[in-house]
Amino acid sequence: MAEKKSVWAQLKERLAVDSVDVNDEKIYKDVRGGPGGGRDFRRPKDVKGTLVRVLGYAGRNKGLFVLVLALMLVSTGCSLAASYYLRPLIDDYIVPLIKSPEKDFSALAGQLGILAGIYLASAVATYFTSRTCMTLAQWATNALRRDLFSALQDLPVSFFDQHTHGELMSRFSNDADNVQMCLEQGIVQFLSGIITFVGTVALMISLSWKLFCLTLLTIALSFGLVRGIGRYSRILFKKQQASLGALNGYIEEMLDGLKVVKAFNYEERAKAGFDQCNDEYRENAIFANFLGSIIFPTMNAVMNICYAVTAVLGGFMTVAGSFTIGSLGVYLNYIRQVTMPINMMSNQAINLFSAIAGAERIFAIIDHEPEPDDGAVSLVTVDRAPDGTLTETGHGERTGFWAWKMPRPDGTYEFREVRGSVRLEDVQFSYVPEKPVLKGITVWADPGQKIAFVGSTGAGKTTITNLINRFYEIDSGRILFDGIDVKDIKKAGLRRSMGIVLQDTNLFTGTVMENIRYGKLDATDEECIAAAKSANAHGFITRLPDGYQTMITGNGQNLSQGQRQLLAIARTAVAKHPVLILDEATSSIDTRTEKLIDRGMDALMEGRTVFVIAHRLSTVRNAQAIVVIEQGQIVERGSHEELLDKQGRYYMLYTGQSELD
Ligand SMILES: Nc1ncnc2c1ncn2[C@@H]1O[C@H](COP(=O)(O)OP(=O)(O)OP(=O)(O)O)[C@@H](O)[C@H]1O
Ligand SMILES: [Mg+2]
Repeated sequence: MAEKKSVWAQLKERLAVDSVDVNDEKIYKDVRGGPGGGRDFRRPKDVKGTLVRVLGYAGRNKGLFVLVLALMLVSTGCSLAASYYLRPLIDDYIVPLIKSPEKDFSALAGQLGILAGIYLASAVATYFTSRTCMTLAQWATNALRRDLFSALQDLPVSFFDQHTHGELMSRFSNDADNVQMCLEQGIVQFLSGIITFVGTVALMISLSWKLFCLTLLTIALSFGLVRGIGRYSRILFKKQQASLGALNGYIEEMLDGLKVVKAFNYEERAKAGFDQCNDEYRENAIFANFLGSIIFPTMNAVMNICYAVTAVLGGFMTVAGSFTIGSLGVYLNYIRQVTMPINMMSNQAINLFSAIAGAERIFAIIDHEPEPDDGAVSLVTVDRAPDGTLTETGHGERTGFWAWKMPRPDGTYEFREVRGSVRLEDVQFSYVPEKPVLKGITVWADPGQKIAFVGSTGAGKTTITNLINRFYEIDSGRILFDGIDVKDIKKAGLRRSMGIVLQDTNLFTGTVMENIRYGKLDATDEECIAAAKSANAHGFITRLPDGYQTMITGNGQNLSQGQRQLLAIARTAVAKHPVLILDEATSSIDTRTEKLIDRGMDALMEGRTVFVIAHRLSTVRNAQAIVVIEQGQIVERGSHEELLDKQGRYYMLYTGQSELD
């Protein structure tokens, strides 16, 4: 029979096992959303700097900020004053009243009125402090979220490769919420805690420093005890978090692999594994809470002893005449009160640290280097005189003629018509250093030409298009747009001159019309409808319940894959860019929609320079040049017929001897 261990033996055993690493990312990741949901127990790196910056956000609304501080001072001051007022009340009014034969309560009543007034003022000030604080916190976090979102918009695409959406979302949810909570209550409670504590101690010393020495001793003793127990309790608490993490991880793994579990008849073992994790969590939770629950009773017991001893000693002092009854009453009251602000502050400290750690992560994004944009060449609309000279028409005018405005060393500008020739020269690129994805790509497209990229999945086709509009910076080589290095072109201008239909379609919440207008914000309804017609999207749009006014939600969940792609094409069509990049969706669509999309794309490509990444051979056939890419290199190029004659890679892809994807 298994030996039954005592609680203490088990506790010792648990504490003896290596303590959990406080900074172990996994613990915190796994328990997110669990008990203590979204809280972060890691210590922030720069508490002071971050706190000052967070307060800076609150301080932007100076009037409210000062008001909060003033109200807090009033409320704390009043509650301190009210507690001290008992002394003159007892000594000067109640004691004389007891001694005097005539019981005239009017003076006492007046004093009680004043006391009530002070309490009332304190209550009113507390109420307004929390209300004002709430408003202030909303203003501050609103500004913080705005800065965060706008920083995100300016970050390079590569940043988003390194951070998951979930992670960035939690900056807005968990972290921003924690900052808000801390501004709403944490900071004010912390400050008023400090003031109350210092004030109470000062008043205690002024009443009797001898008694205070005794109190100090007790406080030190009780905090020593709390610290001691607290240290062990923290170890157990971390163990509890770790085992909760393990439990959650186990559930997730088993749910994700549900079909495998069933297929391999693993159910019973899965249950046994779960029981083990579940029991481990229970045991750890019980012990963590067991120690946690000892802290307050212990502290209370120590403080009660202090109370009793002070009462006896103070009683003697009062009888001996060196202390008044009022002073003793007030002093005993303070013993009860003095530890309260400390408890309050230590409770708030976790929230405060968690909020500061969150704020630190938010600031890390805000301070992140934005996408570099040091180009000097801008895109402008121009008028063309009969002799061919170009003059800038100013902003917003829609002549339909676009030109590159290039500064000359002498301060004047050269205008070069946007024609849409694109050239990549020996381009090398890697997403991750040392892991080249493109190894010396040279391709060119003259204005109006259609160039198709084909190749296996992961060959680097999408990557090429990511470089032309500078989502990423190339490692070496050059990319020229109308003879100008794209590095010298302002990103806004570069991207405005290039239409792009991405491989993964993204639609936004809004009507169909709004989604098409996304391509050109000042497009009229007629222009949008014309674009939809040219993209072959008009037919299905008119069959939607509300036509062009149908709401699109959740990235177009209410549309089919093909319809989404058609909308994306219409969105690009409305802007009439001189250069187009079309990345065909890889997922299969039915042949009828495929034909619609092909025709839509053909209309869109008319008269423009087009790079098309083809996953369907029907798209490729009428291209001037087909470029076959494998493992980041061009392995073949030529027209459809030329490449078929060659009987190489393209031939294999085309005849189905090798798959395109
Ligand atoms: N953001 C990224 N970070 C790191 N590596 C990436 C990233 N995007 C793509 N890659 C890698 O670069 C290579 C080329 O990817 P790319 O998306 O260009 O392929 P593709 O030819 O478009 O494939 P598909 O036909 O499947 O669309 C792949 O090996 C891929 O794993
Ligand atoms: Mg791709």
